[in-house]
Amino acid sequence: MTDTTQSYTGSVAEARQDNPMWSGRLAFILAASGSAVGLGNIWKFPYITGENGGGAFVMVYLLCIAAIGLPIMIAEVMIGRRGGRSPINSLRMLTQRDGLSSRWTWVGWMGILSSYLILSFYSVIGGWALSYVGKSAGGAFVGADSEAIGGMFGGLLSDPSNLMLWHSVFMALVIMIVARGLKSGMEKAINILMPLLFLLLLVMVGYALATSEFSHGVEFLFSPDFSKLTTEGVLTALGHAFFTLSLGMGVMMAYGSFLPKNVSIVKTAVTVSVVDTVVALLAGLAIFPLVFANGLEPGAGPGLIFQTLPLAFGQMTGGTLFATLFFFLLVVAAVTSAISLLEPVVEWLEEQKGISRLTGTLIGGLTIWALGILTVLSFNDWADVHPLAFIPAFEGKTFFDIFDYLTANILMPLGGLFIALFVGWFMNKQAVENELSLGHPALQSLLMFVLRFITPVLVLVVFLYNLL
Ligand code: PFF
Repeated sequence: MTDTTQSYTGSVAEARQDNPMWSGRLAFILAASGSAVGLGNIWKFPYITGENGGGAFVMVYLLCIAAIGLPIMIAEVMIGRRGGRSPINSLRMLTQRDGLSSRWTWVGWMGILSSYLILSFYSVIGGWALSYVGKSAGGAFVGADSEAIGGMFGGLLSDPSNLMLWHSVFMALVIMIVARGLKSGMEKAINILMPLLFLLLLVMVGYALATSEFSHGVEFLFSPDFSKLTTEGVLTALGHAFFTLSLGMGVMMAYGSFLPKNVSIVKTAVTVSVVDTVVALLAGLAIFPLVFANGLEPGAGPGLIFQTLPLAFGQMTGGTLFATLFFFLLVVAAVTSAISLLEPVVEWLEEQKGISRLTGTLIGGLTIWALGILTVLSFNDWADVHPLAFIPAFEGKTFFDIFDYLTANILMPLGGLFIALFVGWFMNKQAVENELSLGHPALQSLLMFVLRFITPVLVLVVFLYNLL
């Protein structure tokens, strides 16, 4: 071991005396999957797949997960574990150690901005799921046809005060959990509820299997027709890989700072990515057969799951129970992701002039809640307000569309690009090697090659292509 390495190891040991480490690999996997698995998998993945023509889009998305998402997740967790602090301070420490530019901390600041924007609309959609728990429990879907179900969803969106109510309830839940400092209780809850969500998705796929259109759904998802893929579709797939894995904004860095030294980062990141991808594909398999069996439009947009799954629940035995459970679990998945979005904002506020956790959570949570009003209005009164219409990429986009586009398609890939460059080119080589401890020199070289060249080039190419 070199001197540099020793000083690194020492600094990490000192870094987190006030914070408990994750109780082990499984605990980290649960928390990281809790952040990754959320509305992105069950709500967003199916509808953007529908909007982008299916198979070819899914293929590009899978490629982005493997060639871009996974390496960046590894890099992010590595920075977090080395730095042992909040993202901004981990980057600050690592750059100071190696005499690098302090500008790298901007990646952390960008992450805070992304958290802010994402949570503001995430909470509104989480509110939709909450309101559907109530509808399900009241038996609203029993025997309803697609028109009735569509009407129900349309009715929800067109009523801003109702949307506000559910957005507020969702945000209040998140604020309450984050204010209490969470973790211990959360870990146990995720432990039980995530596998349950998985199981319920399997039930839904089972139901889809019984429809006449299962093979049509499978074909739509997995047989690529590249004539349907646009350059914007490729950017959407790239952006979604970041969104669904919670990458490019420091969340995985923050979680990595709690990861015990003896746990393999690579294996752990692979597990989280696989779990996340399987959940998304299951959601797709559950939804598209229903879309085709009921003559619905795959490109229906953000309402897709709220207009298809209730149809199935309304027809199956025990549907009311299943529906209630499903939307409840969707809320849980959304809350565990939302927590990981608010946490860095609060940590950052806490670091400023000793703001207390409660005050920090309230300041962060309430301003994000207020920003969410713009998303609430995007689906009704302001559906025709396109504030950035003068920029071609934002033409026809509502506030919700803009927040979504700006975070998933610009800020997160940009953050990820810098993270890959930092670990690939700038971070102390010995430190990287120690963190990876892959044991296979060839695998290690491959990963470094991907981080140095493949990941940055792919992100840049997709970016530039869309810009021109
Ligand atoms: N990965 C979450 C999902 O797929 O729903 C969303 C998300 C959570 C994005 C946390 C970014 C993040 F930092």
